[in-house]
Amino acid sequence: MLKISSRKSNKLVHHFNIDTSGTHTCQVYAGHGSLSVLPERIRLYNQKKVLLLIDENVDELYGQRITEMLVSEGFVPAVHKIPPGETSKSAGKWLEAVDFCFDNGVNRKTPLVAIGGGVTGDLAGYVAASVMRGIPLVQVPTTLLAMVDSSLGGKTGINHPSGKNLIGAFYQPDTIISDIVFLETLPAREWRCGMAEIIKYGAIADPELFALAARFKSGYSEPAKLTELIIRCAGIKAAIVTEDEKEAGKRAWLNFGHTFAHALESLTDYRRFSHGEAVYIGMVAALKLSNLAGASLDESPLFQFLDGYKLKVLDLKPRIPDLVAKMFLDKKSLNNTVRVVLLNSYGQPRIDDITDLSLLEKSWDFALETCN
Ligand SMILES: NC(=O)c1ccc[n+]([C@@H]2O[C@H](COP(=O)([O-])OP(=O)(O)OC[C@H]3O[C@@H](n4cnc5c(N)ncnc54)[C@H](O)[C@@H]3O)[C@@H](O)[C@H]2O)c1
Repeated sequence: MLKISSRKSNKLVHHFNIDTSGTHTCQVYAGHGSLSVLPERIRLYNQKKVLLLIDENVDELYGQRITEMLVSEGFVPAVHKIPPGETSKSAGKWLEAVDFCFDNGVNRKTPLVAIGGGVTGDLAGYVAASVMRGIPLVQVPTTLLAMVDSSLGGKTGINHPSGKNLIGAFYQPDTIISDIVFLETLPAREWRCGMAEIIKYGAIADPELFALAARFKSGYSEPAKLTELIIRCAGIKAAIVTEDEKEAGKRAWLNFGHTFAHALESLTDYRRFSHGEAVYIGMVAALKLSNLAGASLDESPLFQFLDGYKLKVLDLKPRIPDLVAKMFLDKKSLNNTVRVVLLNSYGQPRIDDITDLSLLEKSWDFALETCN
């Protein structure tokens, strides 16, 4: 059961618990300055040594301040930098990080702190899951996407040449600290990436989120409101993964737009679109498909964010058959059908298995025309 306590450590730091598997509780802190709870959280393990896996760009901007804070609290931090980019989610980088843990005398209680976006979080999470079959994990997400999505829910892993996220484990962090101070330096494109996942939560679970999210179309502002937005999104994901940790049912709703997005990313070799850009285009296609399948959804809640995702995509129209073919290869699609998340209405998702190619083609056509 998800329990969200209304306790606030101070006006700008909010706190709630996520209880998964009946046995594990993850403490989530979010807000301006919430990183200050890191020492008290890792003190629980009674260890001086702390392993930090940190994104290289984040290290450049914040690494020294973080290690100084830990040293002043009596800890001995050891730092391993993760080069930015998806290529770091590799077996080679995983092994380097595992070596780093053993080189620094890791034991079963040594905390590992992941500081960065989803790439660092996914890699570090898998390192924590696999070293000695599991060492304590603290996630410090520094991108909007990681704060509202990837740091929550325990999916960790790396890529394989055969595909994305094919090697991994479910492994829950003990603590997630989403300090929005990090977001002040987030590049605009990464901001839009996180916004796409926030828009997704509006579509599948909480249509009132659209209005709150619209305040942040152009980037960081209003810390208290931004914290509210992050908490609400994190709460949605937490509630879903609490009920369905291993994706046997509801967790699949989080894939709204993603079956389309994965096809687009794969067709363009993961180079042309950021994940969030592909997800937004995918959600436009999924909205169209929902309407073709009988819903009558107003497009404006989704389209109010369109300006950030006009991406000159008309050249892809001749490739629509290839995009559809890619959807059939998606690991969630079975038996010559494409598994997609559709909306009956905003906040009312459902899973559907599509066999009619022409519906998928029309949805792609609409999305490419719209997002051009
Ligand atoms: N585990 C899950 O449930 C889950 C869910 C969604 C996505 N993901 C994964 O997340 C990854 C994408 O994560 P992401 O979008 O956070 O990207 P990312 O980790 O690649 O970070 C994006 C960029 O932002 C930079 N950056 C990070 N924080 C910054 C800051 N505060 N200031 C300035 N620059 C900063 C990084 O150096 C990087 O260049 C993908 O690998 C995806 O598969 C996982």
